[in-house]
Amino acid sequence: MEEVACLNGRFLPLSEACISVNDRGFLFGDSIYEVARAYRGRIWALDRHLERLRRSLTAIAITGVDLDQVRENMVEAYLRAGGDDALIYVQITRGVAPRSHVPHQPLVPTVLITVRPVEDLAGRSREAGVSVILVPEVRWQRRDIKSTNLLPNILAKQEAHARGAYEAIFVTDDGWVNEGSSANLFIVQAGVVRTPPNGPSLLPGITRDLVVETARREGIPMEELPVSREALLAADEVFLTSTMSEVLGVSAIDGQLVADGQVGPVTRQLQAAYRARVEAGDDA
Ligand code: PDD
Repeated sequence: MEEVACLNGRFLPLSEACISVNDRGFLFGDSIYEVARAYRGRIWALDRHLERLRRSLTAIAITGVDLDQVRENMVEAYLRAGGDDALIYVQITRGVAPRSHVPHQPLVPTVLITVRPVEDLAGRSREAGVSVILVPEVRWQRRDIKSTNLLPNILAKQEAHARGAYEAIFVTDDGWVNEGSSANLFIVQAGVVRTPPNGPSLLPGITRDLVVETARREGIPMEELPVSREALLAADEVFLTSTMSEVLGVSAIDGQLVADGQVGPVTRQLQAAYRARVEAGDDA
């Protein structure tokens, strides 16, 4: 498939898309983003991604973005790329102006959409599960905004990879587990699934919300309640959710096996149920 970009409404090959050095997204990380996935000709959960994009824009007071146009351009870029499965990235910055913390004139937001093939890194690990490490929660207090300021996430993920793990999980000083560097976290204890509640502490993951709904549909007991470090380490099953990972079992935490180190039955049931929804295009 082609790698396609749409920059401020103009379609071009991804390799030719250029952003100004005065773009506030580049200078300050003054921007928000979305990552969506397309399966076999359809952008999965597009309405939900656009709604979260709208929330993020409102949260950082970027105005003047036509989200219907963004939707149209996402679909058009995906069609032009000509693939089946693809990753669709959207970034909206406050715009371009000489570097100054407060912009001196009204700005026109920069809207970038890119479409690339999906590298399903997690696919190989789906059967065996992945290992994770625990890292201190050092991020700001509005983790619900999908901001491109991802330095703590990047450093945490790099540390995980350097230690042979797939993901890093942020844990607060007082022992509460929030989420991973690019995924939400669930535990299963005595057949009950638990994930931390949405709020400023974590990103309201699209996959997270779909999995919460799927668990309820499947009749699996599901609670959105805080998860302590102790509960995480004592869990029968642990899994991650994200656009890229879908539902991904965790086999070890800081080198210690989760239960017997196998991906557990509830995780497998939710993996299958989520996949069935994807196959059916059931993202409402
Ligand atoms: N990351 N938490 C964080 C901090 C994330 O960055 C992500 C997604 C998630 C899962 O959200 P969703 O289910 O909507 O993908 C949770 C994206 C994929 C990324 O940054 O590439």
